[in-house]
Amino acid sequence: MFRIGPWTIPAPVVLAPMAGVTDRPFRILARRLGAGLAASEMITSDTRLWNSRKTRQRMNHDGEPEPRVVQLAGADPEALAEAARRNVDLGAQIIDINMGCPAKKVCNSLCGSALLQDEPLVARILAAVVTAVQGAVPVTLKTRTGWNRDRRNGVRIAQIAEESGIAAIAVHGRTRADFYEGEAEYDTIRDIKAAVGIPVLANGDIDSADKARRVMAHTGADGAMIGRAAHGAPWIFREVNGFLTTGALPPPLSRSEQRDIVLLHLESIYAFHGEDSGLRIARKHLGWYSGLLDDAQDARARFMAAGSTSAQFACAAERLDEWVCRAVFPPDETRIPPGNLQVQGNAG
Ligand SMILES: Cc1cc2nc3c(=O)[nH]c(=O)nc-3n(C[C@H](O)[C@H](O)[C@H](O)COP(=O)(O)O)c2cc1C
Repeated sequence: MFRIGPWTIPAPVVLAPMAGVTDRPFRILARRLGAGLAASEMITSDTRLWNSRKTRQRMNHDGEPEPRVVQLAGADPEALAEAARRNVDLGAQIIDINMGCPAKKVCNSLCGSALLQDEPLVARILAAVVTAVQGAVPVTLKTRTGWNRDRRNGVRIAQIAEESGIAAIAVHGRTRADFYEGEAEYDTIRDIKAAVGIPVLANGDIDSADKARRVMAHTGADGAMIGRAAHGAPWIFREVNGFLTTGALPPPLSRSEQRDIVLLHLESIYAFHGEDSGLRIARKHLGWYSGLLDDAQDARARFMAAGSTSAQFACAAERLDEWVCRAVFPPDETRIPPGNLQVQGNAG
């Protein structure tokens, strides 16, 4: 457990913000399955763009467990401060600033991880946002280990964050220049943890309970953040947090429990996004979930081809039901030897 301002975070491993993935249905699911926190997809600080349906959906927190975390992306201190104030009015209970995203769309306008090049600007942004919501909600920072391998200024950025009143920091163990290539490195995260007193969360390539334990032991981090390993496996938080808090892996979920989670997830996507977007967004998640199935390629093709949410749901339910049944009656055991068939036939 660690604290972010007034909030005690109930479990050390949290869901990483992921644009296009961590919508409200996925955040609620991850929290139910044990994630300590789940931040929104990033929201631009440019309020002129807030009229789009996409951004309105990103700011919708109905039914989300506390504390509700909203991530903001931008480069202008005043715009970010105003965006933070307005999101607090809309229900945000923690504001997270994105200085980790390497996407071109974000970096071209100098925000996301591009900001790591300009430390004085980082200081101005963080101070402006903290001041804007001071007394109301804590502000956190999501960052990388630096701009590139020659300028790994993650420690300096973390110190600036602490001096600016940031309440916790999550660090992806890659530089901006690394994008997602190579392996995450955790030495810089360890150096960051040693340099600041605020909670530090380690992020990057954590995909199991054992990896989370090893990364936290190596870095001394207070918690960890998982992104891609939760794709098609939101139950990873149950496993990892169960292991970290009790020292033992919880018993694995049965296939029928996993099926119920997937179907519930689909229903919540359809209810939240509606028919057209719901169908499209569910395709992405079903693509990941299909990895559970023995005939993944064929199942994936059928999920992608379904032309309505009801057809897609029926197809997913049928495939998952078959998969559950196969666990109860594995094909080899269900095959009845011909002699027994005869007996059964006679008896009938
Ligand atoms: C599809 C996708 C979208 C992402 N969107 C965001 C985002 O909106 N904000 C952010 O701070 N990081 C974003 N990230 C980065 C993740 O939060 C995380 O730092 C990164 O994936 C490394 O963690 P992992 O190895 O556990 O996936 C995104 C990553 C992915 C794969």
